Amino acid sequence: MGIVIKTPEEIEKMRIACRLAGEVLDHVEPYIKAGVSTGELDRICHDYIVNVQGCIPAPLNYAPQGYTPYPKSICTSINHQICHGIPGDKALKKGDIVNLDITVIKDGFHGDTSRMYVIGGASIQAKRLCQITWECLWLGIAQVRPGATFGDIGHVIQKYAEEAGFSIVREFCGHGIGRDFHEDPQVMHYGTPGTGEVLQEGMIFTIEPMINAGKAAISGLPDGWTIVTKDRSLSAQWEHTLLVTADGVEVLTYSGKAPRAPDWAVKQSNIVLPNHPSIG
Ligand code: MF3
Ligand code: CO
Ligand code: CO
Repeated sequence: MGIVIKTPEEIEKMRIACRLAGEVLDHVEPYIKAGVSTGELDRICHDYIVNVQGCIPAPLNYAPQGYTPYPKSICTSINHQICHGIPGDKALKKGDIVNLDITVIKDGFHGDTSRMYVIGGASIQAKRLCQITWECLWLGIAQVRPGATFGDIGHVIQKYAEEAGFSIVREFCGHGIGRDFHEDPQVMHYGTPGTGEVLQEGMIFTIEPMINAGKAAISGLPDGWTIVTKDRSLSAQWEHTLLVTADGVEVLTYSGKAPRAPDWAVKQSNIVLPNHPSIG
């Protein structure tokens, strides 16, 4: 299909869809604590997306080739689950780490973002994995500008994660996004500087590194969706949807309660952080 360069009108619609995706996480955050089931979190998000935002939850019935339709409105991936965990009756417990991944469709356009949450009393290792993965996302974001390559993004993420002693999941990647949930290109979270497609103003894609505390190998659960670490080590993921601007990047899914970007990123005038009370 090739990478779609978005028009100004499409970019305006993506800004809205992406802000709304971030706001779903802002809304559900207070409910994410020990004792709540991931099914309840799904219901809270679904109701907010449909009834308050007037959006469509993109995961619900999403059925790429070779997959059964996804049965819920959000993804909840706990501990050794890497991604695409299906919400259910199991309650979160003290010490868990969980990723909530939200994708909404507004006016035909998709916004996609995810965050990690630590349920009190998690191990130092678990917290460090979440922190390093978040830093990897921001290091990747800082590479985004016209003329950079996708290999530049993958490289900084891989280097930082592996230097911390962690490993990068290779089977899943970031993606172009717009009218379609998953568009070209595939955005690898590993790579070699200067290789791969060149970024151009008007491209919109996600960066969403999945990083394992143990080995990189994955396996799939019989539910057809949930991906876990083969060695059952912990895994973390953070995701933003990004616009390539004339001189840098706009973090489209940044929102009021997103963890504040690292100080070095806030200071960089070519990283635009919208929708935030404390940052212009
Ligand atoms: N939101 C995921 C991503 O970042 C995709 C989830 S597909 C689903 O690409 F069907 F599992 F929801
Ligand atoms: Co995504
Ligand atoms: Co996502």
